[in-house]
This record gives sequence, C-alpha cells and structure tokens, in this order.
Amino acid sequence: MKLISSTKAILGVAFFTTLFALNIASAAPPDAAAGKVKAQTCFACHGENGISVSPDIPNLAAQPPLSITYQLIQFRGQQRKGGAMEALAAGLSDQDMRDIAAYYSALPPPPAQSSNTDLIAKGQQISSTQYCNSCHGPQLQGQKHIARLAGQSPEYLIAQLKNIRSGVRVDMDGTMGSAARGLTDGDIEALAAYAASLK
Ligand code: HEC
Ligand code: HEC
Repeated sequence: MKLISSTKAILGVAFFTTLFALNIASAAPPDAAAGKVKAQTCFACHGENGISVSPDIPNLAAQPPLSITYQLIQFRGQQRKGGAMEALAAGLSDQDMRDIAAYYSALPPPPAQSSNTDLIAKGQQISSTQYCNSCHGPQLQGQKHIARLAGQSPEYLIAQLKNIRSGVRVDMDGTMGSAARGLTDGDIEALAAYAASLK
C-alpha cells in the first residue's frame, strides 16, 4: 500500500510539473469568446449555459477554469475515463482547453437544488468534520484546480465519490483519494445532497 501511494504521489508531482511547463510555454491568454465557439460540440450534453442536460453529466457553469482544464487534460491522457469524454477531449489542444474553460467558468453558477433537510444537515456536518471545505472552499464553490461542488448534480457527485473511493477514478495528486477513502455510502449521499443545495 505504501509503495502504491508513494508511486501515486510521484506521478502527481510529475503531472503538475508537466502542467507548469505547459503553462510557461503557453502563448495566448485564455479567450472566452473563442472558447464559446470551440465548445459548440459540448453544448448537447453540458448545455450552452453550462447546466447539463441529464443528472449523470456534470454542470460546468462557474467551475474554476483550472479545474476544467486539468480534467480535460486527464481525459485526453486517458488517466480519467467516463461518458466518452476521452474521445471528446482527444482532439483538443491545450489552448482549446484553456479557452473553453474561460467560457464555462465565467457563466452564472447553477441553481441550488433542494432535498431532504435532515440529509442536507447531515452532509453539512460531515463536510465540516472531514474538512471538505478546506479544499473545495467555504461554500464548496471550488478554487484553483479543485472542482466546484455547489449546485452540482447529486447523482454525478455520488458516482464520482464512489469512483474516487474505489480507485476507478485516480485523482491527480492522491489528496482526494485520501479524503474519500473513509466515507460510507450514507455519508456520500448526504454530502451530495448538501453540496447540491449550495449556490
Ligand atoms: C455525449 C455527452 C458529452 C459531450 C458531448 C461532452 N461531455 Fe463532458 N462529460 C460528459 C459526462 C457523462 C461526464 C462525466 C464523466 C465521468 O463519468 O467521469 C463529463 C465530464 C466532463 C468534465 C469533468 C467535469 C468535472 O467536474 O470533473 C469536463 C471538464 C467536461 N466533461 C468537458 C467537456 C467539454 C469541454 C466538451 C466538449 C469538447 C464535452 N465535455 C463534451 C458528457 C459529455
Ligand atoms: C486536500 C484537498 C481536498 C479535500 C480535503 C477534499 N477534496 Fe475533493 N477534490 C480535491 C481535488 C484536488 C479534486 C480533483 C481530483 C482529480 O480529479 O484529480 C477533488 C475532486 C472532488 C470531486 C469530483 C468533482 C468533479 O466535479 O468531478 C468530488 C465530488 C469531491 N472532490 C468531493 C469532496 C468531498 C465530499 C470532500 C470531503 C469528504 C472532499 N472532496 C475533500 C481536493 C480535496
């Protein structure tokens, strides 16, 4: 186990080093207007407004731009798989990804979704004892390379937390894997309801 986690940590460092190298080498600044044109093929699933058309597809509106870019890089490199996103990201350049990220990140956030108030309260409590907010932000709005969870589809959040917990989805630096490891199915359901209820 130790060996596996340190290998993951090394891969994570290598991943970040590559990203920083890419950033330094990048020529043009991100262009949201160009991103909107490049994102036409994404609208059928993620919506022109960044609100997805079905519960298994994530909302992208108001996601931190670095989070969108890094996830697309992971899909393109096949480190993350799902929803045919590997194929969709395969043809995107780094500049395309930054432009698309600039477009989606600037859109108004998705609406808060109400559900069982006890479940939401339980989720809020777990979020604070597990320090989810310390990385994802006080209102789970995301920051830097860390995803926005507020207003996200609860079905999507549950699926991803289970994938991260089981290792089906390998996160870039192992921090999220550690955070998900101890969660029960009940915890995950409550956390998803809480995150979805935030704006
Ligand atoms: C056929 C529907 C479909 C299309 C078209 C599509 N996506 Fe996706 N996208 C998905 C699904 C489903 C997922 C969740 C994948 C998973 O289960 O891991 C996803 C995940 C993502 C994520 C990860 C979000 C997160 O919070 O981690 C990003 C970023 C993304 N898509 C961007 C794009 C972009 C940019 C395009 C256009 C180039 C695009 N998608 C086109 C269905 C689609
Ligand atoms: C140490 C920082 C850290 C902590 C603590 C943390 N996360 Fe994360 N989280 C991340 C990072 C980084 C990612 C992106 C992982 C990747 O794909 O590489 C992420 C991704 C996620 C995703 C996937 C989002 C998406 O759009 O696909 C979910 C869901 C999530 N975290 C929920 C949680 C919950 C719930 C908690 C508390 C139990 C938590 N996180 C605690 C850093 C953290």
